[in-house]
Amino acid sequence: MIMCKTSKEIGGMGHSLKRKEDARFIRGLGKYTDDVQLPGMLYMDIARSPFAYAKIKSIDKSAAMEIPGVLAVITGEDLKQYNLHWMPTLMSDTQMVLPTDTVMYQAQEVAAVIATDRYIAADAVQALENSIEYEQMKPLIDPHKALDADAPLLRPDKEGRTDNHIWHWQTGDQEATEQAFDEADVVVKEQVYIPRIHVASIETCGCVASYEKAEGKLTVWMTTQAPHAIRTVIALVAGHVGLSEERIRVISPDIGGGFGGKVPVYPGYVIAIAASFLIGKPVKWIEDRSENLQADSFARDYHMTVELASTKEGQMTGLRIKTLADHGYTDAAANPSKFPSGLFSIVTGSYDIPTAFTEMDAVYTNKPPGGVAYRCSFRVTEAVHAIERITDVLAQKLGRDPADLRFQNFIQKDQFPYRSALGWEYDSGDYTPALRKAMDMVGYEELRKEQAEKRARGELMGIGISSFTEIVGAGPSKDFDILGIKMFDSAEVRIHPTGKAIARFGTKSQGQGHETTYAQILAEELGIPAMHIQIEEGDTDTAPYGLGTYASRSTPTAGAAAAKAAHKIRDKARKIAAYLLEVSEEDLEWEPGKFFVKGAPERSKTIQDIAFAAYTNHPQGMEAGLEATHYYDPPNLTFPFGSYICVMDIDPKTAEMKIRRFVAIDDCGNIINPMIVTGQIHGGLAMGIAPAMYEELIYDDDGNILNGTFMDYLLPTSVETPNWETGHTITPSPHHPLGAKGVAESPTVGAPPAVANAVVDALSHLGVTHVDIPVTPFKVWKILKEKGVIS
Ligand code: CDP
Repeated sequence: MIMCKTSKEIGGMGHSLKRKEDARFIRGLGKYTDDVQLPGMLYMDIARSPFAYAKIKSIDKSAAMEIPGVLAVITGEDLKQYNLHWMPTLMSDTQMVLPTDTVMYQAQEVAAVIATDRYIAADAVQALENSIEYEQMKPLIDPHKALDADAPLLRPDKEGRTDNHIWHWQTGDQEATEQAFDEADVVVKEQVYIPRIHVASIETCGCVASYEKAEGKLTVWMTTQAPHAIRTVIALVAGHVGLSEERIRVISPDIGGGFGGKVPVYPGYVIAIAASFLIGKPVKWIEDRSENLQADSFARDYHMTVELASTKEGQMTGLRIKTLADHGYTDAAANPSKFPSGLFSIVTGSYDIPTAFTEMDAVYTNKPPGGVAYRCSFRVTEAVHAIERITDVLAQKLGRDPADLRFQNFIQKDQFPYRSALGWEYDSGDYTPALRKAMDMVGYEELRKEQAEKRARGELMGIGISSFTEIVGAGPSKDFDILGIKMFDSAEVRIHPTGKAIARFGTKSQGQGHETTYAQILAEELGIPAMHIQIEEGDTDTAPYGLGTYASRSTPTAGAAAAKAAHKIRDKARKIAAYLLEVSEEDLEWEPGKFFVKGAPERSKTIQDIAFAAYTNHPQGMEAGLEATHYYDPPNLTFPFGSYICVMDIDPKTAEMKIRRFVAIDDCGNIINPMIVTGQIHGGLAMGIAPAMYEELIYDDDGNILNGTFMDYLLPTSVETPNWETGHTITPSPHHPLGAKGVAESPTVGAPPAVANAVVDALSHLGVTHVDIPVTPFKVWKILKEKGVIS
């Protein structure tokens, strides 16, 4: 059915009106929002589509332009004149900045308003949205129908494309895996869906773009996790209009959390930059909360068929997974280029599975684009959920305790470095003590007894285990790049004459405490007190080039770069100390803070003495100064791991669920700062129970998002969050200079299957083998009703 009405006539502006009301309250909260106040600054707001799929018949700018204070209305046609209406995604797909003829998902950017005041801009957007005529088309929402013969071809702009298939990806030995399944005593199989969710950072996205015509220089303060890569992308996209890289400065201040959602380039940034460039004044754009939730990159959305083969004694022999990935209207994931499905192939997890095969297909639908690595090292959450869920399904089928089955199949300590069936070389691991420690902490045996007694009384209680392996620290440059830029990271350390230091990094903290931990690393390596080391990140004019912070890569890459730069400084400091003490370098020994003469420790020079000499009294022929830069290319990724146990009580009458205990044992190798690591685990666990129990973006058949505000999209608060009980084991990484592995994402990755396994465990005696996350009370209530527990 073809309709042709204005959005005003169909009343399709409900979301937008609500949104604009929200905007008045929410805007201006952010630190970065208020810090950047430039003379003559203009404000931008964006009109969005009420439809998931529609032709734009006309955009009448007049009503918006008539509002006093409105300076410009920018449409796709306007940007087309400068060839700025399309941009590349980080996965080398293409994305509209503003559409010229068709909108592809609800809440897509359609046109922008530039005004002297943010409220005027919001009013003008309302007027503009009422003046856009659409011809609505039937959208494609179900990814399972994307390849049907009668499915609309969503991307006719892509030459040669005849259907909605984006890519096929496979890993592993298909033949050997099929043979393992043919020969298996036992095979279990489940359909596992990891729903579309959203990164809900404390602050939304935004920027202030300021093009100084006189200097020909663009400065952009923006909410990005990867400032250098963004600067390069701006130069590549807008070089033809005169924005070359040396004239672009990207500054990423405190951005209110990122979690992978602030890696991509969103149209709002590009339009603000274009507007500032064209008008010659600073332009500020801050999304409101609902825009962020409805239109920015989503995460997950994997439909998986998971199969595990084993002997009748429970030895796993093969793993096979087929996945359908819904990418929305463009593949705007932020994976390393060679890995369209990220690092999903970590899916054999902590288990010694000799053969495995995974294949996946990505398709276009009329939903927002994305596939971002939401606090996850590129699709690892999906992989961990698949293997940890199917392991429990196997245990259930064999009548085995899920902990016992894990102990039996764990990769053993002496097998490391371990090459997995899907090709990864795990650096180090020791899984048995981590699970044992979690079981001891939670009192596993007692809980199992309690569960049996409760079952006899008709009460419901479940114990869920997740013994995950992560893969973080992207990455070795031979395999890892983003848009061709190799994934190293960097540290530049400069010691001042008085022995104080400044260190700058290519990463960008979003609340992970780099200012503390990087200073600690340098303090440890150089003996300069951490309080005298200033840490800076996020300004492309000053920081060395790096790929930014996401995927728990900062410690494995920039943390290592800090140590390596410090070693270079120590090498030079040794030469200066030898000169000052009139001995040979070989006669010197180092202890944090000073060099001393072997056998004569009273003859020494502190790092402060040496720093002063580096500027005042250095050996002839030596360069002055004491500084070093290191670009660290890790030889391998790091493989942190952990064992989590969730104890869940379920009310058999109402299906209300309550996490009674949650024990998390993590191993991230050597820990730099225990308090920061514990904080990372606590926050990550809350983000882990979120998709497990509450969060899911839901669309109706017409592509309307049904929970596009926080009234309907449930984020857990402290009320829903249990008292986390954390602990750790330490298995150093053999290749990292500090023996450290990343940690920030382990809890987000490890927690969901622990919760799901606990719920299924509580219902397993009823014959339930799987419940998709989020495991809501309604889903469980329906099961209890079906099984006759609730009449
Ligand atoms: O890349 P991102 O900073 O998000 O993740 P990370 O490298 O896992 O680090 C998160 C925070 O935990 C940083 O402040 C790290 O320095 C700290 N950390 C630590 O103290 N010890 C570790 N073994 C790993 C991380």
